Amino acid sequence: MKPFPALPYLSGNFAPLLVECDANDLVIEGEMPRDLSGALFRTGPNPQFPPLGNSHHWFLGDGMVHALFIDNGRVSYRNRWVRTHQFNEERAAGRRLYSSAFGGEAPDPSAAGKPRNVANTNIVPHAGKLFAIDEGSSPVAMDPRSLDTQGSWTFEGKYQGPMTAHPKIDAETGEMFFFGYMAAGPGSPDISFVVVDKHGKVTRSEMFKAPYASMVHDFAITDQHIIFPIYPATIDVQRIMKGGPVIAWDPDAGTHIGIMPRNGTMADIRWFKGPAAYAYHPLNAYSEGGKVVLDHMVYPRVPLFPNADGSRAPADIADQPARLERWTFDLSNNSDSYKREVLDDLATEFPRIDDRWTGLKHRHGYAGAITGAKLPGSPFDTIAHYDLKTGAREIWKPGAGNFVMEPVVAPRGPGEANGYVLTLVYRSETNLSDLVVLDAKNIAAGPVATAKLPVRVPFGFHGNWLAAAQDRA
Ligand SMILES: [Fe+2]
Repeated sequence: MKPFPALPYLSGNFAPLLVECDANDLVIEGEMPRDLSGALFRTGPNPQFPPLGNSHHWFLGDGMVHALFIDNGRVSYRNRWVRTHQFNEERAAGRRLYSSAFGGEAPDPSAAGKPRNVANTNIVPHAGKLFAIDEGSSPVAMDPRSLDTQGSWTFEGKYQGPMTAHPKIDAETGEMFFFGYMAAGPGSPDISFVVVDKHGKVTRSEMFKAPYASMVHDFAITDQHIIFPIYPATIDVQRIMKGGPVIAWDPDAGTHIGIMPRNGTMADIRWFKGPAAYAYHPLNAYSEGGKVVLDHMVYPRVPLFPNADGSRAPADIADQPARLERWTFDLSNNSDSYKREVLDDLATEFPRIDDRWTGLKHRHGYAGAITGAKLPGSPFDTIAHYDLKTGAREIWKPGAGNFVMEPVVAPRGPGEANGYVLTLVYRSETNLSDLVVLDAKNIAAGPVATAKLPVRVPFGFHGNWLAAAQDRA
């Protein structure tokens, strides 16, 4: 194939890894805890072929899954591309057929009119399956051990629409909640809402209309409510028809947060309204005393997308970064406004909690942060731990030239944040990555153990831990 063009999101550690491999018994520095047993899955965009033209959006590279299997102090590694229909067609052709830009080049005639599927955003275990998800398509099931692709999964034909890459799993009931935007077709404001029980069966599948069509990346649940945040990264068919951007920052549309009782219907969604802002990811949400509390990483505008008039956006996430904010919605009165507080001033993304506390009042939060020099791309160089009870914040930095990815909590025993924080660290000096294991209650102490990968893992998006048993107690 031809060389990849020297675009920012195809360069350095954004460049794809062009090998699939297996490695047993990684070199480990320190002592890998014996009570850490399971698999860490991670995914991100890893384009198989160069773009059709000279533009490429980070979000549209083919997903590659990296798995670290940890057992009794030993670690093995495996990586595989997700074999979507798009991947298979392009591999057979030996070149890219689908555009990797929003708008932009027309696809190859063989791909015209066919949906993209890159399955690159999250890798989520549920009910014995492992789902690679990209928010615009059905999830793609993979074998959790071999990482062989099993194919698109439509929940036994019960739900065929798009699925957010951020489903929420209720640790108490084992249910998986998710939504899909543009569920009635491209540019539609319709959003699906689906509940799947702990056995993987669809128990609920409904639709509602959002105030406008937009990129809805994530949502939140509590033990009593479902929260649908609609931020003005709009998808406006009229604008697109006139040659405008597909997804664009459109602040006049404002922020709309829909809150529905978990036992209610779509007709019960109550909409709260506020000034334009953007969040890709919540840390968590909970219901307490007639209020819903949403902690999330809030940007002043959507990063990585242009303005609605087509003018260019700030080039980079670090130019206008997100910070941890708490938005509180009072359900006991008729106001449609909400309270907004900045909880911390660090520039952050990739917030995570101990997932056993999904929808419950959390005390501990973790995130990737930028504390060093601003660098092109995704320069997260720090892991942060917020104690939201005391207001204390701890950080751990892997050192100059080293970059972190999303922190994932692997539980060790009963109690919130009783466990380990796992992250991958890219080391620019060696051009390789490490798995770093931190104590979730003492990240500042530095790694408990570090496993040396034989490859670099490109900067990517999300991952999850799959353990044999998890207890909340
Ligand atoms: Fe995400």
